[in-house]
Amino acid sequence: MSTVTIRSAEPSDLPAVAAIETRCFHASRRSSRRALRHSLSSPSQSVWLAISPSDGRRRVAGAMVLHHHRLALRIYSVAVLPEFRGNGAGRRLVNYAISLARKTGRSSVTLEADRRDRVLTAWYEGFGFETYRILRDYYSPGRHAVRMRLSLKPALKGGRVCGCPIGHSTLRKLK
Ligand SMILES: CC(C)(COP(=O)(O)OP(=O)(O)OC[C@H]1O[C@@H](n2cnc3c(N)ncnc32)[C@H](O)[C@@H]1OP(=O)(O)O)[C@@H](O)C(=O)NCCC(=O)NCCS
Repeated sequence: MSTVTIRSAEPSDLPAVAAIETRCFHASRRSSRRALRHSLSSPSQSVWLAISPSDGRRRVAGAMVLHHHRLALRIYSVAVLPEFRGNGAGRRLVNYAISLARKTGRSSVTLEADRRDRVLTAWYEGFGFETYRILRDYYSPGRHAVRMRLSLKPALKGGRVCGCPIGHSTLRKLK
């Protein structure tokens, strides 16, 4: 059984989140420190950490940035440090995003992935994501992305889809 746990990131987690970004993404694909600081404080974004045991300590193994749109929850990025990969941390983060989307009444979870990275897109397909758009030159000229979507049963409230923006305090209560 996976011993990975998920917690909401605080502004003080910026160094850990920035270190994951640096080690997991090529320079051309990294979010800047400033962008990450914004993600940690914005009411329309949230950052989540995967915590794993290592040498008797709990360590930050991975991070996920979410953008909260009215109807959809977008996984903006998800990354796990190389030494923690293959132990379910990435799966825990993506499943966490899916359950958060359900709890907050979103009708879908969306993400972008490198079209050439078939291992990655197949991994997302395993959660039920389907490609619905090709984004040409998304990363750089000739480097296309696919936009993938997992449709969820919309939560209906008074006949309308309930997908209101939620802030960090609400997110914490949902954990
Ligand atoms: C994608 C990623 C988050 C998965 O994290 P993880 O903790 O290893 O995931 P899990 O342990 O839950 O699942 C392991 C699976 O990841 C899958 N995977 C997804 N993308 C992969 C990739 N580019 N290379 C290798 N495996 C990948 C494999 O199918 C692997 O299955 P296996 O264990 O049978 O080989 C991690 O590989 C990563 O950080 N990659 C770099 C950053 C990135 O590309 N993020 C996604 C786009 S924002």
